[in-house]
Amino acid sequence: MNIITKIECNINNTKTQFLEHHKQKMGFIPVTVAALLVIFVGFPLSSNAELDPSFYKDTCPNVSSIVREVIKNVSKSDPRIFASLIRLHFHDCFVLGCDASILLNNTDTPTKIESEQQDSPNSSLRGFDVVNQIKTTVENACPGIVSCADILTLSAEISSVLGGGPNWEVPLGRRDGLTANRTLANLNLPSGLFNLTQLKSNFAAQGLNTIDLVALSGAHTIGKAHCSSINSRLFNFNNGKPDPTLNTSYLQTLRNTCPNNGPESNLANFDPTTPDTFDNNYYSNLQEKKGLLHSDQVLFSTADVDTISIVNTFASNQDAFFESFKASMIKMGNIGVLTGKNGEIRKQCNFINKKFVENDLASVVPKESSEEGMVSSF
Ligand code: HEM
Ligand SMILES: *[C@@H]1O[C@H](CO)[C@@H](O)[C@H](O)[C@H]1NC(C)=O
Ligand SMILES: *[C@@H]1O[C@H](CO)[C@@H](O)[C@H](O)[C@H]1NC(C)=O
Ligand SMILES: *[C@@H]1O[C@H](CO)[C@@H](O)[C@H](O)[C@H]1NC(C)=O
Ligand SMILES: *[C@@H]1O[C@H](CO)[C@@H](O)[C@H](O)[C@H]1NC(C)=O
Ligand SMILES: *[C@@H]1O[C@H](CO)[C@@H](O)[C@H](O)[C@H]1NC(C)=O
Ligand SMILES: *[C@@H]1O[C@H](CO)[C@@H](O)[C@H](O)[C@H]1NC(C)=O
Ligand SMILES: *[C@@H]1O[C@H](CO)[C@@H](O)[C@H](O)[C@H]1NC(C)=O
Repeated sequence: MNIITKIECNINNTKTQFLEHHKQKMGFIPVTVAALLVIFVGFPLSSNAELDPSFYKDTCPNVSSIVREVIKNVSKSDPRIFASLIRLHFHDCFVLGCDASILLNNTDTPTKIESEQQDSPNSSLRGFDVVNQIKTTVENACPGIVSCADILTLSAEISSVLGGGPNWEVPLGRRDGLTANRTLANLNLPSGLFNLTQLKSNFAAQGLNTIDLVALSGAHTIGKAHCSSINSRLFNFNNGKPDPTLNTSYLQTLRNTCPNNGPESNLANFDPTTPDTFDNNYYSNLQEKKGLLHSDQVLFSTADVDTISIVNTFASNQDAFFESFKASMIKMGNIGVLTGKNGEIRKQCNFINKKFVENDLASVVPKESSEEGMVSSF
């Protein structure tokens, strides 16, 4: 199993080195990049050998269709749910690994949890109620089997498919963490005002490379952002002027949605052309300077950087984008996973199991609260 892990690492290094080399010595040719991406992601290797797409084959064989049915049903009245669920998985994985720490609510007892959901500034995550609905349905079919972390990962893939994006075999077997860390959420999650240098180092800290950064940013082909996330670009980016990397006609459109000193809770679509469809228009938007966040546009509008050719490749070749997106989602889904006997299978995704706390911290848990309470109905 270690050998497989090592091969995957070598492939990634080779890929990066080849791109670097290619750029320096021969010029950066998008078609070649596309071919390379297709070749390399073709290997069915996972960087975490302990996860396995057939993990629930015997214990909860129908888990994927259960998750799909709930999301499909919710999407009839809330088409944005695909975007929100994909984003939840990202925010989970970047803080303490993909361990469902993002789902934990504030609690004082039996252990102090400072929920990552309140990370700043105004992360405005949504879909928590839908995850709970999925968990309840899954628990009804297979009680105590499927982790909340796996539900988030499956939901991200199913949302991609239902939104028109790629499908892939989702490695499973994650277990749920026993804590959250809001400080770490504020530190690890990238800001929409980041420049390319900051984005690259933010992703590198999670073991993700430049191709991962460009491919995963493509999730911004669906969903919405609050005016609070873009106001400074529109009115006061640089000495009272708008962000110079913003298309001037798009700037006017966005100012209608987000007037100066207007309600910060208004929403703008990430993709002005096909807002609810998971496609490669994100990249053609960047070519027209229509990235919604500064952190989107810097992938294309920073002078002389390696991300420009990757954007051009994905803009002209949707298959190349989809293949890279799948590979990078699997890689992101492997970050810091808990497996085997680590962590637990939560009964209710917003709280750690009391049983665990009872065993572990028996001396500090008041007797009457060890059996009753918020998780007892599951
Ligand atoms: C590259 C660095 C990234 C930055 C700086 C960033 C930042 C943001 C911001 C500021 C919002 C809007 C929040 C709001 O105003 O409500 C947002 C939304 C979103 N992000 Fe990202 N993000 C990044 C990467 C990712 C990744 C890797 C994914 C998933 C693979 C992702 C998926 C999404 C989705 C789907 C939405 C829309 C959610 C909805 O409509 O509910 N983002 N992101
Ligand atoms: C699997 O789940 C789907 C959707 O909830 C349901 O229609 C189907 O009957 C289930 N199949 C089995 C074998 O339980
Ligand atoms: C579908 O959603 C409706 C509410 O929008 C709910 O009443 C119903 O129970 C849901 N069905 C399933 C199978 O989740
Ligand atoms: C968890 O916290 C959210 C707010 O962050 C709240 O809406 C939700 O009701 C809480 N869930 C439970 C089960 O208490
Ligand atoms: C949360 O993470 C920060 C930054 O790594 C660390 O300093 C702090 O001790 C952590 N807090 C908890 C409660 O683990
Ligand atoms: C990116 O932002 C950081 C932090 O503000 C700054 O130190 C750095 O010079 C910036 N890099 C570029 C290339 O603009
Ligand atoms: C966060 O949201 C509140 C209430 O909607 C708003 O007043 C505040 O300006 C927002 N902060 C940021 C940094 O967007
Ligand atoms: C700005 O957008 C328009 C279409 O809305 C497009 O024709 C134009 O080329 C874009 N400008 C730049 C600098 O990309």
